[in-house]
Amino acid sequence: MSISPRFLDEIRSRLNLSDVIGARVRVTRAGREFKACCPFHKEKTPSFTINDDKQFYHCFGCGAHGDVIGFVMHHDGLSFIEAVELLSAQAGLQMPKPDPQAVKRAEQEKGLHELMGAAADWFQARLEDEAARDILAYAEQRGLNEQARVQFRIGYAPADGQALRSFLRQEGFSDAQMIEAGVLKTSTRGGEPYVFFRERLMFPVADRRGRVVAFGGRILPESLRAPSSGDFTPPKYINTADTPLFDKGRMLYGESFARQAVRDGHSLIVMEGYMDVIAAHMAGFKGAVAPMGTALTDDQILSLWSMNGDSEKVPVLCFDGDNAGRKAAGRACDNILPLLKAGQSVRFAFLPEGEDPDSLLRSSGRGALQKILAGALSLFDFIWFSHTTGRSFDTPEARAGLSKALMQQVATIKEQDVQQHYKALVRARISEAFFKPAGRGPVQAGRGGGGRLQRPGALRPPAIVKHKDAVVEKVLLAALLNYPALYDLVEEAFGHCHFSIPRLEALRLRMIALFDNGDEALESKEVSSILAGEGFAQEISDILCESVYLHAAFCRPDSLDGVDLTVKAGGWSAFYETLRARDFDAERTKSWRDAVLKGDEAEEGRLKTLVRSGGVSESGF
Ligand code: UTP
Ligand code: MN
Repeated sequence: MSISPRFLDEIRSRLNLSDVIGARVRVTRAGREFKACCPFHKEKTPSFTINDDKQFYHCFGCGAHGDVIGFVMHHDGLSFIEAVELLSAQAGLQMPKPDPQAVKRAEQEKGLHELMGAAADWFQARLEDEAARDILAYAEQRGLNEQARVQFRIGYAPADGQALRSFLRQEGFSDAQMIEAGVLKTSTRGGEPYVFFRERLMFPVADRRGRVVAFGGRILPESLRAPSSGDFTPPKYINTADTPLFDKGRMLYGESFARQAVRDGHSLIVMEGYMDVIAAHMAGFKGAVAPMGTALTDDQILSLWSMNGDSEKVPVLCFDGDNAGRKAAGRACDNILPLLKAGQSVRFAFLPEGEDPDSLLRSSGRGALQKILAGALSLFDFIWFSHTTGRSFDTPEARAGLSKALMQQVATIKEQDVQQHYKALVRARISEAFFKPAGRGPVQAGRGGGGRLQRPGALRPPAIVKHKDAVVEKVLLAALLNYPALYDLVEEAFGHCHFSIPRLEALRLRMIALFDNGDEALESKEVSSILAGEGFAQEISDILCESVYLHAAFCRPDSLDGVDLTVKAGGWSAFYETLRARDFDAERTKSWRDAVLKGDEAEEGRLKTLVRSGGVSESGF
């Protein structure tokens, strides 16, 4: 229905914006304007201003801005038409005559909403039927307790292919409506239409205003359903196909609750399934949502960001910790980059292999999920690790290749300002990984002593021994993997050193991010399982093993000196010093080689003694 601008102006001038807002939140006068705590974001001191003369409101905190109609739409969760209806009634105005087609469509949709609501109530009641006692027991056993069943309106679709149809017919709905709403299917063999959901646990899908617009139906365990005929395996979940009410690529399961949760300060968390969202809610993660059987669409990503408003919290996307999960994360990342906007991002969390949020919460409690979420990778870190994990960049060509691949990927970000920041981040990370601090990076050994030396008989500068590097680096990592609490004591050194083995360096950077991000202390097992889930499984098993512990008893998981962290920090620092000595020496060795090449005998002699005295000593091994 089109409404003339004149009618809208009439509404605006008849109503005082401050009265309309004042009926919903506490407003106080401030000079010619009014002030309030912004209802659209969390704040303690008012930054929301209302100007009756100019007929608009503006929040200096979150940028929310609009007129009386926008306010009511946004605040009450109404459509434009609904807001206009409400306000025109309040202003004592008669709504202009709508066009008959739009009225028909609106009535149809209203009918479908009512039908879906009635179907949801009916399914819900069937789960409480005496005959469904086993089904209810199954739901209970899956953690769908009464609170969950009420909040999510969980139901049961019995086997009878006509029962829901007769009920809805009694309620005054036609077959055509049931078919349009997706609860009834026409028979392809010319028989009676039959109900779509049978013998399934029912998950109503609500739109953002909480109205049921679709269903997901989960298959029952084999013991609770009739054996399927032939070798047809029914799908685990079936979902309502797209209907006038339901566009599955635009909606998220749990959206109506998540919208409110964000306003209450919760983070949005995207999970995979119905059960995950419900389990998450029951455990207090009220920002949990899920797409319905598909990967996140662009619309869903944009909808996450719009729900998130100006919250500083970044939506977290959860993925399985296996290969498939990492691939899915990679695809999500590819889709998200072009959509990035200033102030909007996502983070990536990986669950331990074989777990989904529901199973993790059941087996390990909310703390376990909390830690996985706290350790989520930023979008940039995810990109970095997906290009570097498990690969080595020993040559300048390999490094240049990495840099090119990263630059190409961030070039897919459409918003120029964001893209520039990502490019800067790529350059900084490359330089941090391979060049910084000056001279500390892995030294290219092996050229010295070749035919280009000017003086015959010159002493060949020692090459850096890679194996020793690896041991020292592994010891330093092993201690932190086995004793994460040690991080507090060695944080600065661990943050400043640089490992020469690229995979270990990748792991070091990742561990810093993980330890720095967590609000709660991680336990050793959790650290290892998070990192293993992110593709470091091989490195971890190479690090947490006897051949490493042999060099440094203190990093053993249950060494005899107990868990006196200061003792551990002592051992750790000793190894750290050998690393520093190596780096220092690598610098001198390089200068020495330069001196040899230049024929600067005095400098060469001075450096030779220095290298010999400190040097790549065997100390500590
Ligand atoms: P999962 O197979 O991981 O199931 O599918 P789940 O959610 O963990 O359920 P439980 O714990 O086994 O009971 C994840 C999501 O993928 C969609 C559903 O939305 C499901 O929640 N899906 C899955 C389908 O749409 N169809 C299917 O056949 C399977
Ligand atoms: Mn599951």
